[in-house]
Amino acid sequence: MLSSGLVQAAYIIAALLFIMSLAGLSKHETAKAGCWYGIVGMTIALVTTIFGPESKGTIFILIAMAIGGFIGVRKALKVEMTEMPELVAILHSFVGLAAVLVGFNSYGLHHDAVMPENLDAAAQALFVAEQAKLATIHNVEVFLGIFIGAVTFTGSVVAFGKLNGKINSKALMLPHRHKLNLAALVVSAILMIIFVNHPENIFPVLIMTAIALAFGWHLVASIGGADMPVVVSMLNSYSGWAAAAAGFMLSNDLLIVTGALVGSSGAILSYIMCKAMNRSFISVIAGGFGNDIQVSSDEEQGEHRETTAEEVAEMLKNASSVIITPGYGMAVAQAQYPVAEITQKLRDRGINVRFGIHPVAGRLPGHMNVLLAEAKVPYDVVLEMDEINDDFADTDVVLVIGANDTVNPAAMDDPNSPIAGMPVLEVWKAQNVIVFKRSMAVGYAGVQNPLFFKENTQMLFGDAKERVDDILKAL
Ligand code: TAP
Repeated sequence: MLSSGLVQAAYIIAALLFIMSLAGLSKHETAKAGCWYGIVGMTIALVTTIFGPESKGTIFILIAMAIGGFIGVRKALKVEMTEMPELVAILHSFVGLAAVLVGFNSYGLHHDAVMPENLDAAAQALFVAEQAKLATIHNVEVFLGIFIGAVTFTGSVVAFGKLNGKINSKALMLPHRHKLNLAALVVSAILMIIFVNHPENIFPVLIMTAIALAFGWHLVASIGGADMPVVVSMLNSYSGWAAAAAGFMLSNDLLIVTGALVGSSGAILSYIMCKAMNRSFISVIAGGFGNDIQVSSDEEQGEHRETTAEEVAEMLKNASSVIITPGYGMAVAQAQYPVAEITQKLRDRGINVRFGIHPVAGRLPGHMNVLLAEAKVPYDVVLEMDEINDDFADTDVVLVIGANDTVNPAAMDDPNSPIAGMPVLEVWKAQNVIVFKRSMAVGYAGVQNPLFFKENTQMLFGDAKERVDDILKAL
């Protein structure tokens, strides 16, 4: 058994490693080191907690961890890059569920401290008052922990369903949905007051749990497809607060720190996502965006033109500057490897090739950056939308590889479009735009894309990987 002093010292080191991990993850170059800091920090945290003075039934913990670890490693090894967003969503749901279970157990296990002997009457009264205060604080922690955990749990399950297509990504529009949400919050607050005054009765906690589960479900179900990036980061944040709440209930300082780090970094990410999509956080939570889809038919938009891989290869050979804007389709097709090869080939010919990354391209924050890094595309040619948007006008060829919503000019031109106001990569300003996709189908937000019908745009139909391979051959 480790002493409590040693455990506290280890917790401080682990907390520092988590902060270093977050700092490392914020840049491509240091991301790998960031992962390692996190792994080492978590190993220290687990070992010292399991073998710490507060821990009992170590053997059961180890058996449970071995089973969980086995399932986790198997799943992680099998998961495709395109399934990462769902995996993250379902992992968030586990954090929520854990907070609910910790809450109920912590309620059942809490016992008042035994009064020391030889106290005079005044000291006894003080002791009793102190115990009552601590019990109230603990009960509030239990109540809030279960509430946040339950919302995170069902919210993440719905997000999982929406991201893998098992649940319709359209926003659920129940009548009076805002009033329903408000009622859920008000009733839960009243239940908390009742529970804190009568902690011997667990009934208010049970009713609140049912309400919170329904609230979490409804909150995410009523958010439309186009707002899913914010939902993913918002649930990331909730899972952090759920972990922090569990830390308070278990009086575990490291869990509080870790939860707060995840909670606040998730909140900052949600803010960045909202800014990237030009949406206010409140309007995202209120839901419904991306729902009133008026899909205009292709005839209304005009004619589209098609091209071949050979023609594109010829165009690329004659270009002096090329920008590649990847999107979700590149992830689906796993086209990042041939894309990296083309990049190298063109750069060897002295052509300036760069990448333009939209903040919500793909299905996960940083999705495209991860894929390109995986394929060893040099970091310095991978630029953020803000860094590259002014350069399209001076570009010969733009290759839109499996991107759709993130290059849709309707976001800027059509105030009635469901994605109106979202900043996009202004690819249509380039001399030639080649769009790689399999059909004229709409993107994630369900909106048709006028880019495909512009005069300087040509469609290269088919699986993105196969088409990029064809271009490679022709080059
Ligand atoms: P999307 O709008 O999702 O469009 C992807 C396009 O890729 C589709 O139009 C599809 O057309 C094409 N495609 C699919 N498989 C392909 C394949 N094998 N080969 C070639 N093309 C293929 O892409 P985007 O521009 O990246 O936008 C992302 C969207 O997802 C945004 O609406 C965003 O709000 C949302 N979203 C983002 C996130 C985060 S955090 N990034 C999270 C959730 C949701 P075809 O079917 O015709 O091939």
